[in-house]
Amino acid sequence: MNIALIGFGNVGQGFAAILRDKANDLHAQYGFDGKIVAVATGSRGTLYDPKGLDINALLIAIETGDLSAYPESATLERNWIVQRIATESNADAVVEVSPTNLQTGQPALDICYAALDSGKHVVLANKGPVAVAYHDLMKRAQAANKLVRFEATVMAGTPSIRLALQVLAGCKITSAKGILNGTTNYILTQMEGGMAYGSALQQAQELGYAETDPSGDVDGWDAAGKAIILGAALFGKQWTLDDLDVTGISGISSDDVAAAKQAGERWKLIATVTPEGGVVRPVRLSLADPLAGVGGATNAITYASDLMGDVTLIGAGAGRKETGFAALADLLDIHRLT
Ligand SMILES: NC(=O)c1ccc[n+]([C@@H]2O[C@H](COP(=O)([O-])OP(=O)(O)OC[C@H]3O[C@@H](n4cnc5c(N)ncnc54)[C@H](OP(=O)(O)O)[C@@H]3O)[C@@H](O)[C@H]2O)c1
Repeated sequence: MNIALIGFGNVGQGFAAILRDKANDLHAQYGFDGKIVAVATGSRGTLYDPKGLDINALLIAIETGDLSAYPESATLERNWIVQRIATESNADAVVEVSPTNLQTGQPALDICYAALDSGKHVVLANKGPVAVAYHDLMKRAQAANKLVRFEATVMAGTPSIRLALQVLAGCKITSAKGILNGTTNYILTQMEGGMAYGSALQQAQELGYAETDPSGDVDGWDAAGKAIILGAALFGKQWTLDDLDVTGISGISSDDVAAAKQAGERWKLIATVTPEGGVVRPVRLSLADPLAGVGGATNAITYASDLMGDVTLIGAGAGRKETGFAALADLLDIHRLT
């Protein structure tokens, strides 16, 4: 499978390293041979070689800060814009791992459309296009007889999407309730240990969980984007951020956390998705709730279903390796189905 990587930051590099390190196992176990033919960045150049790029050389080049350090070859193209890579390259699949825009999905959304329209499968870690245009993406994919996969967009490589859509197929899922943002869960966990909100946030930033501008996490918008994706994938909805009821954790004080603790409860930022709508807000959970036991930056989701009752999945919600794995799992799924 020839792969074009749109974005070569944490996730793109993590994915490339997995592809390199597991090449033999993937071939032996699944007959899967993934070859990166193109890489695009926002400001560090693009590369396209229809014969395949050398992953080691790619990782060394990007470490220097720019893909121009990649060694020359007879078939290498350095000036193809992203749109051209999506349209004209010999990639079988485009892996979209560029930055998320939850308002417009762009510029990634147009890249996904271009890839599908020119006969390529699409795998996304970027939430933007999936949250903004889930149904259009699926329609375009169907028209092109190609597949769109987006496991990484909710809980990274922890298979929240696959669990709901494939493993629980045959069950009717009635709701999803999850801790879908690791930064806020880390902050709330630290607050329960006695740390003030500001210090916990600062620590989350120092550990690389929270962005320098942490508002997307602490105000609930990152979790809301994931709730929109779940609303579309589970219940066929196409909500926007305005359709959701979103409250972050910045109003939770140390006193609130202590009061909950005394009552045998715990604050969690919970995204709840049902066919009626999506809500993101801090909730006091009984310690008997499996989500209450999920501490630190870990994520979790409980699906309520008719045949299985509640099924809870707990695991990493971010990380270059964990999110890179999600892209690999999606490509293996596509490989199996085509
Ligand atoms: N990191 C995680 O744990 C995680 C988990 C789940 C989902 N995600 C999602 O996965 C995506 C990638 O995350 P990341 O952590 O890898 O981000 P990142 O480290 O910031 O990397 C983003 C990459 O995209 C490139 N880029 C920027 N604008 C572009 C454009 N217009 N066209 C093509 N490439 C462009 C950047 O290039 P420049 O550096 O040159 O700008 C960089 O190579 C995001 O949408 C994120 O929300 C991440």
